[in-house]
Amino acid sequence: MLDLPISLDEMQLRYYPDPVLRHPAESIPLTELGPHIASLADWMIDIMVQNSGIGLAAPQIGLPLRIVVISLTGKKQDAEVFVNPEISNFQGMSEVEEGCLSLPGIRAKVRRPAACTVTAMDLDGNTYVTDAVDLAATVIQHETDHLNGTLFIDRISSVSRLACRKTIKQLEKDFSSGQGQ
Ligand code: NI
Repeated sequence: MLDLPISLDEMQLRYYPDPVLRHPAESIPLTELGPHIASLADWMIDIMVQNSGIGLAAPQIGLPLRIVVISLTGKKQDAEVFVNPEISNFQGMSEVEEGCLSLPGIRAKVRRPAACTVTAMDLDGNTYVTDAVDLAATVIQHETDHLNGTLFIDRISSVSRLACRKTIKQLEKDFSSGQGQ
């Protein structure tokens, strides 16, 4: 069995520089899919929607598992769940301004492939393959990065980094004081 916290309430949004955001996440075995992973996905969708996000990865609520939820409209009814997503077949290049629920107050342009193919499982364990373009491609790449411990600020230009420097420093300060350091 996967080691899930007893109560979903314990799983709240984690902010940079929480070390959990840097841990590579583990795949979810097919045999583990069931009501508890479905509840987890539902919880993640609620947190995403409540915070006006369009994507959320499990490490962002402190759980190093390969599960991602996305809703391009930000609405619960449009949310999709991707278990163990793999992205491939990258095409083109685009530069889109991104933000992240774990990095409040920071927005910066990120260059990424404009299209990709996503292979993932749904909550019933069915493998499906879908093509993602434009915003969908940006979001799935951003969320898959989270599963590998990568944040969008790792991918921004040095000029953008300089522009965000103060906010990043403030987040680091807030995290340290939250840790009682
Ligand atoms: Ni993010």
